[in-house]
Amino acid sequence: MEVSQRTAAALAAVAVLTVALVATARAADEPNAQAQIDHGKATYAEKCSHCHGPGMMNSGTITPDLRAFPDDRTRFVTTVKNGKNNKMPPWGDILSEDEITDLWAYVSSRRRP
Ligand code: HEC
Repeated sequence: MEVSQRTAAALAAVAVLTVALVATARAADEPNAQAQIDHGKATYAEKCSHCHGPGMMNSGTITPDLRAFPDDRTRFVTTVKNGKNNKMPPWGDILSEDEITDLWAYVSSRRRP
């Protein structure tokens, strides 16, 4: 009796833990996306804002407004890595894959409909 009660208690504890873990994993989806956006925003402020404008508010110079950039991740990654027309500098040697992914999360979050 004693043993089976303990076993039942242990099983109950495992069940509670499992539910808690699943809930945590689900909840992590959103904050994780937010963390990527925040990190991308910081990288942008440091590396891109002097040309593309603080907060992507374009200063009306030769840079395109990134809020109007299409939902085209491949084009974004290619341009950021290789640069464009000798005006947009290449970042392939400077930024990591993760940093570029987070930049994309930030740019996507600011896209104008
Ligand atoms: C030295 C100024 C400068 C900096 C710094 C800069 N850019 Fe640019 N960027 C440009 C210019 C100029 C263009 C327009 C190039 C063209 O179309 O001829 C451009 C274009 C782009 C485009 C559009 C490319 C396309 O395919 O239409 C993207 C996306 C972009 N930049 C992202 C970034 C990101 C992200 C950063 C920071 C890592 C950054 N840029 C830093 C000057 C800059």
